[in-house]
Amino acid sequence: MRENPIRLSIVAGARPNFMKIAPIIRALDQHKTTFNYRLVHTGQHYDRNMSEVFFEELGIPPPDHHLNVGSGSHAVQTAEIMTRFEAVCLADRPHAVLVVGDVNSTLACSIVAKKLGIAVVHIEAGLRSGDTRMPEEINRMVTDAISDLFFVTEPSGVENLLREAHPASHIHFVGHVMIDNLFHQLAALAEMDTTGFEGDAVKRSLPSYGVVTLHRPSNVDDPQALRGVVAGLAAVAAELPLVFPAHPRTRARLAEFGLTLAPNIHLLDPLPYMAFLNLWKDARLVLTDSGGLQEETTALGIPCLTLRENTERPVTVDEGSNQLVGNDPIRIAGLARQVLRVAPQSTSARPALWDGRAAERIVAVLARELLPLAV
Ligand code: UD1
Repeated sequence: MRENPIRLSIVAGARPNFMKIAPIIRALDQHKTTFNYRLVHTGQHYDRNMSEVFFEELGIPPPDHHLNVGSGSHAVQTAEIMTRFEAVCLADRPHAVLVVGDVNSTLACSIVAKKLGIAVVHIEAGLRSGDTRMPEEINRMVTDAISDLFFVTEPSGVENLLREAHPASHIHFVGHVMIDNLFHQLAALAEMDTTGFEGDAVKRSLPSYGVVTLHRPSNVDDPQALRGVVAGLAAVAAELPLVFPAHPRTRARLAEFGLTLAPNIHLLDPLPYMAFLNLWKDARLVLTDSGGLQEETTALGIPCLTLRENTERPVTVDEGSNQLVGNDPIRIAGLARQVLRVAPQSTSARPALWDGRAAERIVAVLARELLPLAV
């Protein structure tokens, strides 16, 4: 061991964080003499299929600290994470705290670290939707305002950070760790027997199908919006059966607003990563309001209709297979029909640096930039 390895605290809290830390941990494990990391799970997501299963399937070691914060209003959840993470930082004294993405855990832990004088490293920095009604946009803006090192997935992120006057020397365009993870897991999936995976029986029963995910408050918490999406999905399902693993909040809202899905829509519980990958990688079409899935579908060239009016990931529209459709049923049905009219094409074009090696690049920069903190 190096006498003074760089002490890192890696934060993950919600489902979309887990696939981003997996490749970083693999890359750090290649440099054990340089880094000494501790993993902190805030517990923002806690259902087995939203959390534990991801650790198992993605090969993430058990967390060193589990903060068990659970759900709450944004203020309550953020405050709870901050209170509990501060104690962890005071005990572990990391040289840097590494946060990923844009969830409440990202925001809470970066504020705590910064106020304790600990360097903040933000992975997936610089993305902007321009829409502050979206909680993630606020999380992204605040996290980036106080981050010391920025790792960026696409050119728009670099432009946004420069426009916000961050020094160019702190901004590193490295590609996307989530795409590293996707390629890693696809290779593993190819060796697996998928019979018995949740959703596999439905998949096998359908010659062709679409996949739906939906969980944004702007789509599911407003009855009018959710009614629009449900009507749009019914129109699509008249031509293409849909498989819909539903986030717990979405299921709850459908019941609360008394909305029923068309019979050709197969509703499932949230799926583990591998079962979900097994499903969407062969889909004819994906309809989603997720951030990550816009990117993963682009990486595999699968047509994606994003049920939002904007995206913080414009490279998926400019260079990828993504189109923005919002939640108007007529628009959803019309664009889906257009996609289905065109024969599926396989494409090998991917955004720059989405090559499965982002985590290696990140770790090389961290070793160089953080070393002075550890001597
Ligand atoms: C969070 C992220 C969002 C991300 C999404 C992916 C924020 C602001 N939002 O949204 O960016 O796209 O995760 O899933 O951080 N719940 C459960 N079980 C769980 C977790 C949540 O039942 O394991 C239910 C609870 O009723 C909870 C609700 O889902 O109140 C919302 O959870 P929360 O973590 O607040 O936000 P998400 O909508 O999951």
